[in-house]
Amino acid sequence: MKFTIKTTSPEKSETGILVICVFTDTPLPPGAQAVNKASHGKLSGFLSSGDLDGKAGATLLLYGLAGVAAERVLLVSLGKSDSFGDKAWRDALAAVGKALADTPAEDGALMFEEIALPPGRDLTWALRQASRIVADCAYKFDAPRIKNGSTKRGAHKIAFLLSSEPNQPQKEAISHGQAIAEGMALVKTLANLGANVCTPAKLAETALALGKQFKFDVNVLERGDMEKLGMGALLSVARGSHQEPKFIVMHYRGGSPGKNGKAHKNKNSGSHPIVLVGKGITFDSGGISLKPGAEMDEMKFDMCGAASVIGAFKTIALMELPVDVVGLVPATENMPSGNASRPGDVVHSMSGQSIEILNTDAEGRLILCDALTYAERFSPDCVIDIATLTGACVVALGRIPSGLLSTDDALAIELTQSGLDSGDRVWRLPLWEEYLEQIRSNFADMANVGGRFGGAITGAVFLSRFAGGYKWAHLDIAGTAWLSGEAKGATGRPLPLLSEFLIGRAKARNTEPSGSPS
Ligand code: BES
Ligand code: MN
Ligand code: ZN
Repeated sequence: MKFTIKTTSPEKSETGILVICVFTDTPLPPGAQAVNKASHGKLSGFLSSGDLDGKAGATLLLYGLAGVAAERVLLVSLGKSDSFGDKAWRDALAAVGKALADTPAEDGALMFEEIALPPGRDLTWALRQASRIVADCAYKFDAPRIKNGSTKRGAHKIAFLLSSEPNQPQKEAISHGQAIAEGMALVKTLANLGANVCTPAKLAETALALGKQFKFDVNVLERGDMEKLGMGALLSVARGSHQEPKFIVMHYRGGSPGKNGKAHKNKNSGSHPIVLVGKGITFDSGGISLKPGAEMDEMKFDMCGAASVIGAFKTIALMELPVDVVGLVPATENMPSGNASRPGDVVHSMSGQSIEILNTDAEGRLILCDALTYAERFSPDCVIDIATLTGACVVALGRIPSGLLSTDDALAIELTQSGLDSGDRVWRLPLWEEYLEQIRSNFADMANVGGRFGGAITGAVFLSRFAGGYKWAHLDIAGTAWLSGEAKGATGRPLPLLSEFLIGRAKARNTEPSGSPS
């Protein structure tokens, strides 16, 4: 997909498909007026005919409008102006993305008018969102099908039509949106692949290839290295599988002068990276605490946390973001076998704390806890782990927000805002000390599961015992990382959220007075 910004007036735009967003209850904005005038009132005619549904995201495709240079005009409803907000705008954009992905036209043009933006949002925000959503809608999984019946459809050259020349942030916004979509495509493809293909080794190869392409450091720790480090919790999960576990360490130094990304004037900026940790269970059978058979295939998605960390590295490298980021991916399968861990086993984590495994299906926290301890060596600015950790989180919050649990209020607020700004939202759950009681064990420092209630919190409270040395947030993406049913497949979430957060950090650094502590 290729995005450009043009200042051609819309009626003169020679394009396969011209997209015009309109409210159903207010006069047409100037750009749409121009098209209306050129078409001798055809546009307002169609609008008053009622053919365009009033709901935000409804569309009407018009062909051969006389006086208009575009081959087709797609009218998109923004709904009623008084109920207009981020949601209606996103619904409209998703409809635009779908239409552009499914048109025989090769190129398209999207008209942008300030008055058709949600309250409080500016053109830079809108361009980043639009390019990301449109590019993301064009994603297709390259399925290894026997018969390839898919025809090539979809516009791949998109122009955003502005009324005046774009400034630098606006130009940057479209490349950022595209970089996020490219990262999301990688996340989706890794997750959609079967676990026989997307193994821990495949995750490691993918990270190594990205590191080579974009020149950031990638180091893969093998079983022997993990043994030396004392990662007994991670290794206890890997025992049952024939796949070799991998511990992937990625380091992007965009905040340090002369390294990845643009040089940066703040000499302190490189010292405290943001650490992202992703759960990389390439298949979660449950282990000896075997899962029921129904929908077990979906447990190939249990590496979506890992994929979103790897995808984030692709995105930040494409954006050349001036930030320092470390990515940690503990990767293994959770399988039953004669060598697998049993309920009742006590294992020793890298932190020195012992863990009684009461349920081998609560394996995510076992691999993450050692990664959280490993994170300490980077003296992080903050650590964010991303994991398809609990079915309980899906029960609690459904599939709209990811669960957010954090020991740091400021970080939680920052992530919540990044969620609202990107549309990839989170909702915070409490992490009070009282919950620790649930994972008390008679035989070890803690158990790996609590009781029936508050499972998403129990999982996070377990992790909090390993995340004491820094600011930490945990994202439970069990409900948001993939869709079930007919639309089965990975969503690419929470990459939009993480990208928004990192872009925000980069901006804050750039405006920081030089010499101030980072
Ligand atoms: N990967 C699952 C969590 C999951 C379940 C994600 C369903 C998406 C849909 C995780 O490893 C798991 O099995 N968690 C258990 C924890 C329980 C044993 C305390 C769960 O949620 O049932
Ligand atoms: Mn599990
Ligand atoms: Zn799992």
